[in-house]
Amino acid sequence: MANRRTVIAGNWKMFKTVNEAEDYAVRFLEEVKDVTELDIILCAPFTALYPLKNELEESVVHLGAQNMSWADQGAYTGEISAQMLLDVACTYVILGHSERRELFGETDEEINKKVQKALAAGLTPILCVGENLNVREEGKAVERVRAQVTHALSGLSTEDLSRMVIAYEPIWAIGTGKTASSQDAQDMCAAIRANLTELMGPTAEKVSILYGGSVKAENIAELLTEPDVDGALVGGASLDPLSFAKLIHNAGSVVTRMEGR
Ligand code: 13P
Repeated sequence: MANRRTVIAGNWKMFKTVNEAEDYAVRFLEEVKDVTELDIILCAPFTALYPLKNELEESVVHLGAQNMSWADQGAYTGEISAQMLLDVACTYVILGHSERRELFGETDEEINKKVQKALAAGLTPILCVGENLNVREEGKAVERVRAQVTHALSGLSTEDLSRMVIAYEPIWAIGTGKTASSQDAQDMCAAIRANLTELMGPTAEKVSILYGGSVKAENIAELLTEPDVDGALVGGASLDPLSFAKLIHNAGSVVTRMEGR
């Protein structure tokens, strides 16, 4: 965490009905309504976005989606456009999550098209990258992640990059309870930033790079003390409003301490 805004984003994945989302929002807002030292994002399933728009209006919590089409509109059964996300007050969208890549066959080319579309529409992409266990064991993790980043950013300007968030999520740490050590997270986030610098110059210093993979209230503080880890993308531990709020407060304490306030 350096001179960049800290971001804590929850990714609910395919959990929560409309009622459950509304109930969550009320309880969560009560806990985090005064948090200003970091940015809070909830990335909810499509069906919960509209109800959450109403619940979160004028609050400190930003709304995000978990995927989006590269097309504007048209005969694309089952897809959701950037315009539709803006319509329900989304400002962020997760793109290229490993579950989309691995389970639904999303390619680097599609992810690049989605990133371009999101930026053109004024949404902030949260671009996910990360290697699986085999790649890590072969010693090729950095190479794989660099290739993902380079593909995803193809054709973008430095101004585009300055409006992005990147999340490093090693697949072997997602939902497994196995967090990367804070040193592993730092090493890869630094490698990503070095790659961004090669591609886009000093703008790289402005980009928030998050870590994701079994982040909890208990390990967020240690992760955030690393210089290139600017926040977290949280799956399982974002599903309960009180424990996610606790994680956010723990993160907030680190931010406050590091800013010397
Ligand atoms: P967990 O926090 O459940 O490991 O999930 C991480 C993730 O995939 C967030 O996008």
